[in-house]
Amino acid sequence: MEKKNLDWGNLGFGYMTTDYRYVANYKDGKWDDGALVTDPTVTLNECAGVFQYSQSCFEGLKAYTTEDGHIVCFRPDLNASRMKDSCERLEMPVFPEDRFVDAVEQVVKANAAWVPPFGSGATLYIRPYMIATNAVIGVKPADEYQFRILVTPVGPYFKGGAKPITIRVSDFDRAAPHGTGHIKAGLNYAMSLHAIVDAHAQGYAENMYLDPATRTYVEETGGANFIFITKDGTFVTPKSDSILPSITRRSLMVVAEKYLHMPVEHRPVKFSEVPDFAECGLCGTAAVISPIGKVVDHGKEICFPSGMEEMGPYTKKLRETLTGIQMGEIEGPEGWVHKIM
Ligand code: PLP
Ligand code: COI
Repeated sequence: MEKKNLDWGNLGFGYMTTDYRYVANYKDGKWDDGALVTDPTVTLNECAGVFQYSQSCFEGLKAYTTEDGHIVCFRPDLNASRMKDSCERLEMPVFPEDRFVDAVEQVVKANAAWVPPFGSGATLYIRPYMIATNAVIGVKPADEYQFRILVTPVGPYFKGGAKPITIRVSDFDRAAPHGTGHIKAGLNYAMSLHAIVDAHAQGYAENMYLDPATRTYVEETGGANFIFITKDGTFVTPKSDSILPSITRRSLMVVAEKYLHMPVEHRPVKFSEVPDFAECGLCGTAAVISPIGKVVDHGKEICFPSGMEEMGPYTKKLRETLTGIQMGEIEGPEGWVHKIM
């Protein structure tokens, strides 16, 4: 299989049309067999549930080329199970978890020429998603749905890759208490768009959202969970019912404890504690681990000792170990690295 002729080392985090996508349709209470198709266009009725009441959810994972030339992805079973949770909360039909993993395999295999080579710094981003497709005008769930998976090669989510970023504390909330912050609903991201445009306009790379009820605890950003390192090397990460259970964060908790022998705390994190941490980072499929050098809270700067030039030593070690496992250079726990071909 010949790879596409792309400048792999200079890709941004953007969409490009690849050769195949996976499509399955839900009608009369059941999913059809699903298939790979070449047409990237979706044609729907003007009144489709996704257009009217935003009934949609999605997932994100990546495929990697390992040093020995295999194509693998990382813990796809957890994406399947998180999508199940999203569907249940949004009154959408669950796409069976084993079929989800099988569909990921099919679409990655079909687009193998688009999977960036080992060592290029790029990866194949895999975006499974589901939308309500039949017409609804009264406020209720649709009866028909489409599950799709598109793939696109990507580079780093934040410009500059591993260089520390500056973020600000947001005055906007992205999720309500007892709302949908814990699932991957498209509507959560619609909620965050004004806040991110405003943050970018003011020179910040992302928003730090605080808990919507009291604005005293750290939640997450628009697309990643937080990790903090204390001055004595403890890994601390926020626990909240209104943030997305990041697969990267759950994996890093294991990496920190089992590989790097760090104490790990998963607990509510007060915003007032933030100035005491030695290192801070964002973690997620897209973000991998992106170091944060500075948090600005309404003009007041919180600067981490790790600075704005380099990522801190613990963040660096966590990133190297996690990506080492993902790329097959370091032996991961059983079931983490899922071989596709
Ligand atoms: N939080 C939000 C809001 C996200 O969109 C994402 C990305 O998927 C994450 C956290 C990180 O989750 P994961 O590590 O599963 O990609
Ligand atoms: C991911 O990391 O997969 C996400 O969905 C985050 C998104 C902001 C790109």
